[in-house]
Amino acid sequence: MKKYKYIVAFSLLTSIVILSSFTTLTKDDGDNNNEEPTWRNVQVLPQNLSHEDMDAIMDAWSNSLGVSCSYCHAKGDKSSDEKEEKIVARKMLVMTNEINEKYFGKDSGTISCMTCHNGKTHP
Ligand code: HEC
Ligand code: HEC
Repeated sequence: MKKYKYIVAFSLLTSIVILSSFTTLTKDDGDNNNEEPTWRNVQVLPQNLSHEDMDAIMDAWSNSLGVSCSYCHAKGDKSSDEKEEKIVARKMLVMTNEINEKYFGKDSGTISCMTCHNGKTHP
């Protein structure tokens, strides 16, 4: 009886191992990773940002300026560069990256939109 339980447990474990290696295989097929979203007009942020990370960054920008998404984004298409505010925001991102890189170290993130804006559009 005990031996039988071991066999059941072992074969369950084996199938879990096989199944999970299968899912990593399908995930990692090298064919333009289905997992990664394809952003249509991302010029400064990393191209391979996950949806979760993009949301987090956009929330942070909105909070830093005390605005909602529509302050920078035209209705509907988030990849559109129709609004001047979005163009300025992209330049601000370049500037912020340059300040960090030059004075605090690349990717240090020491300076952020919040550092200057602190909840206002025109600090
Ligand atoms: C202060 C301006 C600003 C605010 C506020 C803002 N965004 Fe953005 N967003 C941008 C800029 C600039 C880019 C492009 C960044 C780049 O080119 O690297 C962008 C890119 C995006 C993209 C990628 C679109 C694509 O496919 O090219 C999405 C999605 C997005 N924003 C969603 C949001 C959401 C949702 C909110 C509100 C929670 C928001 N944004 C708030 C400025 C803003
Ligand atoms: C070093 C300080 C500083 C940092 C960092 C900074 N900004 Fe700004 N930003 C300013 C100042 C100052 C103004 C107001 C300029 C004016 O009134 O002409 C401004 C204005 C803006 C505007 C308003 C443009 C308009 O149309 O009126 C947007 C949008 C903006 N910033 C987005 C951002 C975003 C997004 C970030 C982070 C990626 C950021 N800023 C980081 C200083 C900064």
